[in-house]
Amino acid sequence: MATKGEVIRCKAAVAWGPGKPLAIEEVEVAPPKAHEVRIKVVATGVCHTDWEYLYASGKGMTYRPFPLILGHEAAGIVESVGPEVTQFSPGDKVIPLFLPYCGECERCRSAKTNLCRKNWENTQAGVLADGTSRISHQGQQIYQFLGVSSFCQYTVVPDTSLAKIRSDAPLDKVCLLGCGVPTGYGAAVKTAQVEKDSSCAVFGLGAVGLAAVMGCKTAEAKRIIGVDVNPDKFERAAQLGATDCVNPRDYNEPIQEVLQKMTDGGVDYALECVGSPAVMTAALEATTEAWGTCVIAGWTETEVMDVKVIKILMGRTLKGTYFGGWKSAIDVPKLVDDYMNKKLKLDELITHNLPLDQINAAFDLLKSGKSIRSVISLQVDT
Ligand SMILES: NC(=O)c1ccc[n+]([C@@H]2O[C@H](COP(=O)([O-])OP(=O)(O)OC[C@H]3O[C@@H](n4cnc5c(N)ncnc54)[C@H](O)[C@@H]3O)[C@@H](O)[C@H]2O)c1
Ligand SMILES: [Zn+2]
Ligand SMILES: [Zn+2]
Repeated sequence: MATKGEVIRCKAAVAWGPGKPLAIEEVEVAPPKAHEVRIKVVATGVCHTDWEYLYASGKGMTYRPFPLILGHEAAGIVESVGPEVTQFSPGDKVIPLFLPYCGECERCRSAKTNLCRKNWENTQAGVLADGTSRISHQGQQIYQFLGVSSFCQYTVVPDTSLAKIRSDAPLDKVCLLGCGVPTGYGAAVKTAQVEKDSSCAVFGLGAVGLAAVMGCKTAEAKRIIGVDVNPDKFERAAQLGATDCVNPRDYNEPIQEVLQKMTDGGVDYALECVGSPAVMTAALEATTEAWGTCVIAGWTETEVMDVKVIKILMGRTLKGTYFGGWKSAIDVPKLVDDYMNKKLKLDELITHNLPLDQINAAFDLLKSGKSIRSVISLQVDT
């Protein structure tokens, strides 16, 4: 492409500081270095985790350096590749990954985990392998969120943090496979390993929770109880497979007691997709003794949850899931196939399509519970 080797000037939504709305700025995106790929970001979802890092940074989340470009649920096209990149070529359709897959480390070779740590400390600190970011504004370095930064028309990512996907995949849909949907779906089918005819409760019916509902349905659970304090989420949850929906605010007793009564002792699987320690405790206590499993997908980094020892003594299992347990670079293309083969729904989770300069409105829609996923188009003129 004509831009190969050049600095690209483009638009981005920059987070100048915690708690401040994003500002649309012109930024410079440097060419990729060794083992890096520069991509034209076509579409990005807006995930709750983006909001948390902007508005709860230093509270529930560890502090990340600013200025920062958020966004980590995206799809795009390879613009150019740096030296030593062998797996990607300009024009490839790709999904950037906040969880790497190097394929070589002990963890990548183990079936027990997906937590590859390639470039981990650097990408968590907002920089790439050489300790710097590829994005700047008038010469000032802008940190890259989780090494991705998809609220920018172009970005540069490590070649181990990128999945190549089929050329007929619609990028404005499969961007959801960069975070929320694999997380919720995998929480059910991979981490919990929900069994046929089992009973499940899904706490939180945003994109992550609705994807968990889909996972429970795919696993042929008999009962799938959606739990949310916002009843507007119930209709969509029912369409995707929830057999019952309950609002904790409709009851005087704790929601775990309500669920125990509904299921004669507790659910086989509870999936927490909210990110609240109190809900995590409720989810654990909503599971049945003997074999109940609680999986936490909701994201908080500094908070502590209460666990009554007796709950664990009596045979319950408490687990967490990061990116749904998927080995990112090899499993995301398979999830794209599942979507293309109509085994996995994405369109049903997209409630809004917005241009980049409406990004703060997308945050408002998410926080007010009016959206499931807003997909931001980065390449349209506004
Ligand atoms: N583990 C991972 O790898 C991973 C990846 C993506 C997102 N996440 C996390 O998953 C969580 C959900 O993300 P999302 O994008 O779906 O968010 P979202 O805001 O779209 O959905 C959260 C839902 O929880 C509901 N809720 C709030 N308080 C509740 C309560 N007390 N009881 C029941 N429901 C309640 C809200 O009404 C909303 O429908 C967040 O914590 C996010 O950070 C984790
Ligand atoms: Zn996310
Ligand atoms: Zn690895």
